Amino acid sequence: MASTPLGMYIHVPFCSRRCGYCAFNTYTLSEQSGSAQIHSDPIEQYLEGVLSEIALADESLGQNRPALHSIFFGGGTPTLLSAEQLGRILSAIVERFEVERDIEVTVEANPDELAPGQLEQLRHRGATRVSFGMQSVQPNILQLLDRTHDPERSLQAVSEARLAGFDHISLDLIYGTPGETEQDFSLTLEAALSTQIDHLSAYALSIEPSTKLAARVRSGALPTPSSDEAADRYLAAEAALQRAGFNWYEISNWAANPSAQCQHNLLYWRNHNWWGIGPGAHSHLDGHRWWNLDDPKLWAQTLSRGASPISGSERLTAEQRHLEDLMLGIRLAEGLPPHLAPRDHRTERLLNDGLATYQADRLVLTLNGRLLADQVISVLASD
Ligand SMILES: C[S@@+](CC[C@H](N)C(=O)[O-])C[C@H]1O[C@@H](n2cnc3c(N)ncnc32)[C@H](O)[C@@H]1O
Ligand code: SF4
Repeated sequence: MASTPLGMYIHVPFCSRRCGYCAFNTYTLSEQSGSAQIHSDPIEQYLEGVLSEIALADESLGQNRPALHSIFFGGGTPTLLSAEQLGRILSAIVERFEVERDIEVTVEANPDELAPGQLEQLRHRGATRVSFGMQSVQPNILQLLDRTHDPERSLQAVSEARLAGFDHISLDLIYGTPGETEQDFSLTLEAALSTQIDHLSAYALSIEPSTKLAARVRSGALPTPSSDEAADRYLAAEAALQRAGFNWYEISNWAANPSAQCQHNLLYWRNHNWWGIGPGAHSHLDGHRWWNLDDPKLWAQTLSRGASPISGSERLTAEQRHLEDLMLGIRLAEGLPPHLAPRDHRTERLLNDGLATYQADRLVLTLNGRLLADQVISVLASD
């Protein structure tokens, strides 16, 4: 294995209710429960699968591997598992894998899915960072997005996480929801920044074809989000975050200081290595990618037979890896190193158009470039 850092992602494919905009591989527990099952509890069946897959990762990676740099419980809604259940997974990982001394362990959480004491217990069992899906502070937007929490709940969740001893707390926001006004989003930013977070992610609402929201847009019940409005919201986010002392380190991510940057997500953007555990999880090791069966029951049953849960794989060519390095790396404030963005006619064009600039010898997006990142990538990838 290459000496790049190694992370582990654990996908928890359950939510108490599906949000109409979300296309992630996630299921409600009632969708997953079946009386004819040997295991009628989908979470217990899932946990057995995760423990088997951790053992599989250990055997497959062999001993010549770096200590784990980060662990990320994503979803879905990882906090639908109890702290004891998430702790069982963490213990199984650290029993088999060496981990870096100051390893980052993130847990994604839905603000209104927390049991009393769950955050303290998670912190106690080794979680170092928590990320809440806040999305908006406006009731009408939360309702349109099918969120079940009231506006204050996300803000309370941040206070609870602080009290529980988390130093690293992030909020996710969504902007550009149909009907959202400039003021709706500025109130959302203000509310988010009034809390003790040290990290914020802000995503333009993406209309994913398979979702209920996409059907409402297709039927004309809701307008297509406007890209101009999304650009205005992005600029508002950048201005408010800068005023609050946050710096962007990836197009959609801002941190209050370098130690608040999400180490695990940096590993994706730097195209380093990670092993993904759980239904539908993707993995990457030195240009070899693979992904698991999506269906939680099929995934768990396959593992319980001692078979591989992988449903597909590909080995990237040098050209594909180069393109991925460009597409991912240009999103970062650290920019592209000279071997990916040498000074030539392409970068000259980006400099002339005000979309990128050189900081020392690295090519970095300007604010306009951040709004037009896809255009920048197509210029960099052109002949
Ligand atoms: C796995 S969820 C976070 C944890 C938890 N499931 C929740 O929603 O509160 C990850 C984040 O992806 C973002 N997201 C999901 N679907 C999106 C979409 N279609 N457009 C923009 N952001 C989206 C949301 O901001 C969400 O908080
Ligand atoms: S946004 Fe979060 S809570 Fe909503 S369906 Fe997706 S993963 Fe589940």
